[in-house]
Amino acid sequence: MTKLNIRSATKNDSSDLLEWRNDPLTIQMSQSTHGVSPADHDLWFQKALKTQSIKLLICEIESDLKKILKIGMVRFDGTADNLYKVSINLNPLHRGKGLAKKCLESSVNDFSIKNKRNIQLIAEIKASNEASKKIFCDVGFKYLKNIDNNFLQYMLDLNL
Ligand SMILES: CC(C)(COP(=O)(O)OP(=O)(O)OC[C@H]1O[C@@H](n2cnc3c(N)ncnc32)[C@H](O)[C@@H]1OP(=O)(O)O)[C@@H](O)C(=O)NCCC(=O)NCCS
Repeated sequence: MTKLNIRSATKNDSSDLLEWRNDPLTIQMSQSTHGVSPADHDLWFQKALKTQSIKLLICEIESDLKKILKIGMVRFDGTADNLYKVSINLNPLHRGKGLAKKCLESSVNDFSIKNKRNIQLIAEIKASNEASKKIFCDVGFKYLKNIDNNFLQYMLDLNL
């Protein structure tokens, strides 16, 4: 498979992230169940880029024509000192191609290398989101509990 590159998000990624966030499947699988306005997204994104406890990683690959393709985003949201919520959102154009697992795996590796502490990662996944449950489990997350009827919590202890 083509090598996947992981980098931190920059202000130039804002419009892509908004587009992926407002994609119907993303909304269907998210806890908020509605789209985000450009103004609200902008406020959130500017703040996220400056917030130490939030890491937004972008996964890219190089096409055969040497063009850089943005595959998706993996987000780490620090909720307590050593606890981060992780979520993934693939560019709708690159879903269903078997890239999600590699994206998540490489992002978790990148995150764990750059955060040398004993960290636990939590993922909250809709019970019906089979593709997401599959990739998180493949990367090593374990089912922890049901949050409610719709969402399940998975955990990965980075144990650094
Ligand atoms: C969830 C998401 C990242 C998965 O990416 P994807 O490219 O669509 O995933 P894939 O098609 O590669 O499928 C991943 C795995 O799930 C499996 N899978 C997909 N649909 C499945 C289903 N209905 N039942 C069982 N397994 C399924 C695939 O076979 C694949 O397994 P494999 O790697 O062993 O072949 C992507 O769909 C997405 O961004 N969705 C919107 C946002 C979202 O739901 N994020 C997750 C919130 S934490």
